[in-house]
Amino acid sequence: MSKQRVLSGIQPSGKLHIGNLVGALQNWVRLQEQYECYYFIADWHALTSQYADTAQLREYIKDVVVNCLAAGLDPEKVTIFQQSHVLEHAELHLLLSMMTPLGWLERVPTYKEKLEQVSDKDMHTYGFLGYPVLQSADILIYRANHVPVGVDQVPHLEITREICRRFNNFYGDVLIEPEALLTAFPKVPGTDGRKMSKTYGNCIYLSDTPKEVEQKVRTMMTDPARVKRTDKGDPELSPVYQLHKIFSSKEEQAQVAEGCRTAGIGCIDCKKILIKNLLTVLEPIWEKRKFFLEKPDDLEDILSTGSQKAKHAASETMELVRKAMNLDGLK
Ligand code: TRP
Repeated sequence: MSKQRVLSGIQPSGKLHIGNLVGALQNWVRLQEQYECYYFIADWHALTSQYADTAQLREYIKDVVVNCLAAGLDPEKVTIFQQSHVLEHAELHLLLSMMTPLGWLERVPTYKEKLEQVSDKDMHTYGFLGYPVLQSADILIYRANHVPVGVDQVPHLEITREICRRFNNFYGDVLIEPEALLTAFPKVPGTDGRKMSKTYGNCIYLSDTPKEVEQKVRTMMTDPARVKRTDKGDPELSPVYQLHKIFSSKEEQAQVAEGCRTAGIGCIDCKKILIKNLLTVLEPIWEKRKFFLEKPDDLEDILSTGSQKAKHAASETMELVRKAMNLDGLK
């Protein structure tokens, strides 16, 4: 029996951080054994918000590929590719845009939120409204069964399923309705306690040096009410403890939580344990990053081989789609 298909993408909108590692990459690596996986760099999606300045796009795309490999994705097992190199995505996006009601797009919560939140860029564009249509094309073109994403992407997956049903209703059963494979991971807080995000400048990047990681953790926010070493704290209010929950053993978690509540240990002691554990996770990744960064030709090869494979799979679907829509010639 052939394996079920998994597809997911990541935007090259900045350097990847430890939130991307535990939220996406590590999960992608786990799935590569069991499924036929297609993972891609959603560079067109990055343009929906960064269309005016693409100076760093190439660097960010490279950072994503290097981190995918450093996190353990094996190009022998999975197909890693760049969205803009598989033009078929654009064709399906166009066709799906014809049948997607505006109301569906205007109702997407991420759309409304970003329009309100982003003030330094003009997001009132055709492309940004169509973001979920492009994402639907990305998914449906591979007839993927599962899409590993975080909860923030669920509305996009819902639209994808609705667009899929609408297409199949009009033209027959061609596309496969995908399911979200929810990544059950707690939100990774940044150094200031807010969600880790490059817009907040609170990230620990996979490209940081050991010194930078140490420095960032040392100056990280803790329970704001614990001012003096002798004050008792509440670990649940400390972003450092949230990171312990992800990167430290159960014993260490219990130990620092107890130490915080009783003022048995200071914040610096607690942070030292986190630093040690973060370095343990990051060291092998740094080593592999170095290895791949020294081989730019190999990176290029991996991406172009992957894009060719993806193009092959995408073309198969597009033939069915064109035929179903009577766009496949006169005979
Ligand atoms: N919207 C996704 C994100 O920001 C990226 C993405 C684009 C994606 N196309 C996709 C994810 C297709 C899964 C499937 O995280």
